[in-house]
Amino acid sequence: MKGNTVAITQYPLIPPHELFFMNAAGWAKHREHVELLARVPDLTHIVVGSITVKPREGNTGGTAFNVAHDGTSLNSLGLPNPGMAYYEDVLPEFVGLANECGKKLVVSIAGFSTEEYVLLAKVVVGSGADACEVNLGCPNVFVAGEQKPITSYDDALVQSALLAVREVLEKTGVELWVKLSPEQNPIRRIQIATWLGAIVADAAILTNTYPNVFLAEEDGSPLITVSNGIGGMAGTALKPIAMAMAQNIRPNVPKYTKLIGAGGVSVGADVRDYVRDAGCSGVAVGTAFFQNENPRIFGEILAEYADLFEAAQR
Ligand SMILES: Cc1cc2nc3c(=O)[nH]c(=O)nc-3n(C[C@H](O)[C@H](O)[C@H](O)COP(=O)(O)O)c2cc1C
Repeated sequence: MKGNTVAITQYPLIPPHELFFMNAAGWAKHREHVELLARVPDLTHIVVGSITVKPREGNTGGTAFNVAHDGTSLNSLGLPNPGMAYYEDVLPEFVGLANECGKKLVVSIAGFSTEEYVLLAKVVVGSGADACEVNLGCPNVFVAGEQKPITSYDDALVQSALLAVREVLEKTGVELWVKLSPEQNPIRRIQIATWLGAIVADAAILTNTYPNVFLAEEDGSPLITVSNGIGGMAGTALKPIAMAMAQNIRPNVPKYTKLIGAGGVSVGADVRDYVRDAGCSGVAVGTAFFQNENPRIFGEILAEYADLFEAAQR
């Protein structure tokens, strides 16, 4: 273990065609979404989900996702999705759609107990998907008005869920990816890195949204109106937090564990920063795509990164 050093390490830029480049979890839930992403030439992976055991309507009755003028977003969607039985039927087809276009299919699973993570991981294995992304971080789940605990902050559940999912994936060829919540405590960041090493994680996605944030417009109106205006923060303001977490985790996980930067990627320079300053192998784009649902953004980001890569070689 390297400890919490603050030494600034710069990592070599990765050639654009070797980058892991994908949509962030939270958007692709149905066939038409997978079809659309399969047609985006620059994506190497398509992330479906998060999916849950039971169907979920999500938090309804108001604005559940909004983006402020600086590109910071707030959401309290609450994991809307048709549930595990639906995905058991359709995931094999999604895998085919992605693989035919040369892309890997990643399925993000969100359980509320170790048993649920296991059930979901079995569905992922049965589908032939390339990777199972264990979402430990959704902050927006409310039952009868009460917020459910966030798995990432429950050490016992994190460890038992990860070990159990590892067991399900063992010898199946399905990669184990782990999606974490932002963690501000540097000691815990290193603790998390040791768990990633213990379960031989293939990738860690850093990070999920920053939980329980309130944001308002200039006139005081809340950015979102469900969940009392409280939601998970992402986009521009999340980037320095996610980057710092990746910087702490990178030296403390085995080299084969890829880090995927998620948080405020909207231009090529953001990709460069995650690769150069945090040792990430790729990025996932959430807010900047979800905002307008314009798939051209992926090509634009990658073209900008390619220019920066070229310039750095001169
Ligand atoms: C509207 C919305 C819905 C999201 N839903 C999920 C989800 O279902 N599962 C998950 O792991 N992360 C979810 N996230 C988190 C994103 O995948 C991503 O980690 C985070 O937004 C940071 O990336 P960004 O700054 O590019 O948005 C969601 C984010 C947003 C904005």
